[in-house]
Amino acid sequence: MSRNLKRYGDWALVTGASAGIGMEFAKALAEEGLNLILIARRRVRLETLSAELIEKYGIETLVIEQDLGLPDSTDWISGAVGERQPGMLVLNAGFGYYGRFAEMEEAALRQMVEVNCTSVALLARRFVPDLIERRRGALIIVSSVLGFFPGPWISAYSATKAFDLMLGESLRPELKSAGVDVLNLCPATTDTEFHQIANPRNTPRAHAQVTGLADPRAMVKLALEGLGRKATVFPGPGYAASLLTRLLPRKWTANIAGLVMARDKGVERQAD
Ligand SMILES: NC(=O)c1ccc[n+]([C@@H]2O[C@H](COP(=O)([O-])OP(=O)(O)OC[C@H]3O[C@@H](n4cnc5c(N)ncnc54)[C@H](OP(=O)(O)O)[C@@H]3O)[C@@H](O)[C@H]2O)c1
Repeated sequence: MSRNLKRYGDWALVTGASAGIGMEFAKALAEEGLNLILIARRRVRLETLSAELIEKYGIETLVIEQDLGLPDSTDWISGAVGERQPGMLVLNAGFGYYGRFAEMEEAALRQMVEVNCTSVALLARRFVPDLIERRRGALIIVSSVLGFFPGPWISAYSATKAFDLMLGESLRPELKSAGVDVLNLCPATTDTEFHQIANPRNTPRAHAQVTGLADPRAMVKLALEGLGRKATVFPGPGYAASLLTRLLPRKWTANIAGLVMARDKGVERQAD
């Protein structure tokens, strides 16, 4: 069923299109007939995806191999995009980092903040003015249910996702009168490469404990159905309860989240 996403324009930009949720966004948008700007570090994967989508849907694509953790990545991307005017921005690229904060590698922490926060803010800043000028557009920011509450043993990641969530929630009313729809997608545990990257010490046993992995295609469907209607979308009614955590003292939610993390992910045990 067409969602008429071309109302935003002919081109969409997707960061993190080489895997997981971003790749599924690319496929869904191509199916709607949108031309795609595909961004990630793994060029071969992007090229393969691009060829598949051109063949299947007859769209145009632009592949941009770019590390979003680099300080000049926004300049490189806007240079490569050139005269194309993406009407839809899917700022999805990101990664997590489980473990004890005191033991985290500083370089990885810096990279996570750059990719999950800085590049999201700067790419939005670079492309949103065009949307405002054209008085139509869509901005989808991929946050996480972890953006809603403190996340012991995944503390800094949780903080980056709170940044994404707050940025999107703040921009929504700011851009509404300009005809720009803003949506936060807040996935919970989804079946992508995320978990292996976020927790490389994950044993097969601990990985199997990550129960109820959601299908990334379902996350994309949720986002595209919510776009223009909702501010934030979750994987299911259970996770909508994340909103209720805003009513609880942070100390409680932090303690509860710590217990859940230790139980479900085996993170504390692995760190010991
Ligand atoms: N999976 C989950 O359980 C889950 C839950 C909540 C939220 N999320 C969020 O969903 C988003 C997508 O994650 P995913 O689950 O689809 O994970 P994934 O399968 O690991 O995909 C992550 C994507 O981000 C890209 N990326 C990572 N670092 C990058 C960098 N430095 N420069 C450019 N691109 C980079 C990766 O591409 P390259 O490696 O090719 O660069 C890849 O395309 C993330 O923002 C994540 O925080 C995921």
